[in-house]
Amino acid sequence: MSAPIQHAGETRANRYRRRLAETVGRGQATYTPTQVVITRAKGCYLWTVDGRKLLDFTSGVLVTNLGYGHFRFEKLYREYARSLPRNAYNMLTPLQVQAAERLIKSLGYPKAQKMLWAASGAEGIQKAMWAALHRHPERPIMVATRGGFHGKKGLAGDVTGDASKNPNVRFVSFPMYEEHPPAYYQAELDGLAKAFPNRIALLITEPYLGAKGSFHPPKWYHPLLQAWCERHDIAFIFDEVQSCHGRTGNMYAFQTYEVEPDLVVLGKGMANGEPAAAVVGRADLIDSLDYGEASDTFSGNPRACAAVCATLDVFEREGIVEHCRAMAPRMLEGLNALRDQFDFIRRVRGEGLVYGVEMLDDETANRCVLEAYRGTGKLGVHFLGPLAGKVLRVSPPLVITPHQLQQALEVLTAAWSRV
Ligand SMILES: Cc1ncc(COP(=O)(O)O)c(C=O)c1O
Repeated sequence: MSAPIQHAGETRANRYRRRLAETVGRGQATYTPTQVVITRAKGCYLWTVDGRKLLDFTSGVLVTNLGYGHFRFEKLYREYARSLPRNAYNMLTPLQVQAAERLIKSLGYPKAQKMLWAASGAEGIQKAMWAALHRHPERPIMVATRGGFHGKKGLAGDVTGDASKNPNVRFVSFPMYEEHPPAYYQAELDGLAKAFPNRIALLITEPYLGAKGSFHPPKWYHPLLQAWCERHDIAFIFDEVQSCHGRTGNMYAFQTYEVEPDLVVLGKGMANGEPAAAVVGRADLIDSLDYGEASDTFSGNPRACAAVCATLDVFEREGIVEHCRAMAPRMLEGLNALRDQFDFIRRVRGEGLVYGVEMLDDETANRCVLEAYRGTGKLGVHFLGPLAGKVLRVSPPLVITPHQLQQALEVLTAAWSRV
């Protein structure tokens, strides 16, 4: 076992890092060189156990879109959950029905008819894929866009990345550095339809490649996938585990990319930190799963439903999406200014409040995470460990203010001058 992460001068945090290394397997989390130890969080700020303040550029992992300790969210969450059992697996609560109806309504397009709960993104993905596979048992083939991340478990893991151990999975290209004309992608799809006539059950894609390092496709790409699915009666599954609830500057990314998927999978931000996920879409697909075929212990539990309702309330009452949209150009301008200042920043990609800042190489990216954390001493900026080796993810809570953004950019200017 390698030595635990330690940082000079952080007596308390170092003790927790050592204790963690002795008790919890490192496979639990992805590598983040700071391994920040937090004892308090409020709004967009975090406080470390050694008393330092950080501006959060992660929202956990794009989860706490409303920031930490949001007054209205916390109050409503407590009210919704009051008096209810923490688990209601074999019972029905009015709250679950209300949360489901409101969630479906929030998607607001004709195919958003019915839903299934899940307790993590990967579970939601798996349930969506099961639904599509059950509807057409004679169709075993699953198509995924290359470079996606849909989770690590089960079928979600099978359609993640560039290659699969599952012999029924096929990949098609997703525009990344190289953007081919539409005919290129169309030819790949048509080749598959020809190779597997009436054998393809589903196509799954992400609105943008998140974990791969923020690649946001041209606006014609997803409609092209959708049209192909419609032509061949293939279920079009849109993985919005990361993009849901405002990230791209619309409530949902299918609105940003102008498609109407057969199934949309939601997760992360939909309950502002309470573990909850969902599949929403066509009733005939959802109903292809019979009693128990998509059941598990925690899905749709009262706390998750309370958090879903409280999150929707805050989005409705506080104009969170509009705020995100207003902050987007400021963020882009700020990140582009950093790119112009520092040679080691190679590219900035993103939309709404989700960006990838691509660095020269992996070592520089890790240095940048560490220097941002050290910041100006008084204030640092908290990042996830680099994605795809060298891309820093920028995804602050959607409630970040212009002042806080300015603060973060100033800290980064000072911190990255030391790289
Ligand atoms: C687009 C996307 N899909 C699925 C997942 C898996 O979600 P979970 O980690 O909750 O299983 C993630 C998580 O990062 C994601 O970003």
